[in-house]
Amino acid sequence: MADSWVDAAERIGADLHLELTGPGGRRAALIRALREAVRGGRLPPGTRLPPYRSLAADLGVARNTVADAYAELVAEGWLTARQGSGTRVAVGASSTLSGQRPSAESPGPAGHPPERAPLRARGPRHDLRQGTPDASSFPRAAWLASYRRALQQAPNEVFGPGDPAGRRELREALTGYLARARGVRTEPGRIVICSGFAHALRLLFTPGGGVLRGPLAVEAYGLAFHRGLLASAGVRTTALPLDADGARVERLARERAVLLTPAHQFPTGGPLHASRRSAVIDWARARDGVILEDDYDGEFRYDRKPVGAVQGLDPERVIYVGSVSKSLSPALRLGWMVLPERYVDGVLAAKGEREAWASVLDQLSLADLIASGAYDRHVRRMRQRYRGRRDRLVEALVARAPHVGITGVAAGLHAVLRLPPGSERSALEAAASRGVALDGLAAFRHPESDMAPQDGLVVGYATPSEHAYGAALDALCRILPADTRLPDTERGIFAG
Ligand SMILES: Cc1ncc(COP(=O)(O)O)c(C=O)c1O
Repeated sequence: MADSWVDAAERIGADLHLELTGPGGRRAALIRALREAVRGGRLPPGTRLPPYRSLAADLGVARNTVADAYAELVAEGWLTARQGSGTRVAVGASSTLSGQRPSAESPGPAGHPPERAPLRARGPRHDLRQGTPDASSFPRAAWLASYRRALQQAPNEVFGPGDPAGRRELREALTGYLARARGVRTEPGRIVICSGFAHALRLLFTPGGGVLRGPLAVEAYGLAFHRGLLASAGVRTTALPLDADGARVERLARERAVLLTPAHQFPTGGPLHASRRSAVIDWARARDGVILEDDYDGEFRYDRKPVGAVQGLDPERVIYVGSVSKSLSPALRLGWMVLPERYVDGVLAAKGEREAWASVLDQLSLADLIASGAYDRHVRRMRQRYRGRRDRLVEALVARAPHVGITGVAAGLHAVLRLPPGSERSALEAAASRGVALDGLAAFRHPESDMAPQDGLVVGYATPSEHAYGAALDALCRILPADTRLPDTERGIFAG
């Protein structure tokens, strides 16, 4: 039987494109080229290299030149050579995807590590970055069952061009779900399906005349990615300071729109106080303004009564946006906008004549998942699991770092560890050196905010899989600064 392509590749080794340039002869050039291919990620760990003879023939060099180059890289730790399994890229050899050009002289993993690659690219040992649910808990069986039912029951027109508003089945299911779970008041005709919050921003602020215009007030701490997206659409953002009751909406000035995370301020973690919720609605009514409500993790509230959506207070003054990115997976790219009547046509026009973003079969599957009750069951199960993780995080800190304050624990998939002023950077460096990936608060601060910078670590406790969580917690406790208490005045802005 003929070899499969994979078998053949395994037997003869990877096909390599290498350019032998630079000083020092062919051997030195080959060593440099191989090192760069490993470090740049073109040759991932475990890749089998071609036998000396075939690489020598490809490159037009002597067989010994290749043998010497391999031997040198084995000695440096970039490659491994084992009888019977050929020469392979070493596991642990740096494979950054950062696009940085490393210097050819920098030593390999056997010596000191080359320039530090961003943890995100390297795949950290302990992943405590906020923003992701536990990917190993995606409800595969329930999704598959819903997908199968959706496919079996779908009328033929489903396989034609999609309606940009989204499938009616999903908009109906969401109308009921959002009313029940989040206190959102709407009807299917006011819902537009999108691929998530980021897409909603793009639809609302299309360059050259979208539904909304800047300047847009945003919370002084928020997702830089969203601010960047707005900036690239030409939207200026102004920074609303925060205090223990959430965004200080009384500071709204000339803006006609404000972006808030009222259920769970991102990333500091408190809910917007009831008095501020009604104040911002009053502001919108008085100024003909609009509130953009980012309800990114509203389903996950642990200790108190659920905090409903602000949208329920006045559906004509709030654009409510949610997605499955925290409840199921950010990879699905499925979300929804609940719109005041006056924005529906504009958003549909921004979407275009046909659905170009959200797969219709995914929409139907989600509709089935919600209608069958499986979505609620999944959310409840995950809420319990994340609450358990949150409790373990709090217990670990109480036992091992009682001086570190923790906030934002009543809800969501992340918490904030408060650090003394000036200590965030060194804590992040300590984390990186131990393979713990997480973000510092500084990464979320609006560059023009007039608030005093706050030091802290944002810990995404949902991100690791269940079996990896204990080790991640242990590693986290080891990198926290030694006992230094926060001055009382520094406790100000954090609630919950
Ligand atoms: C503050 C905030 N808003 C919204 C989202 C969801 O974004 P999307 O729906 O585009 O995946 C996230 C997810 O990480 C988030 O952190």
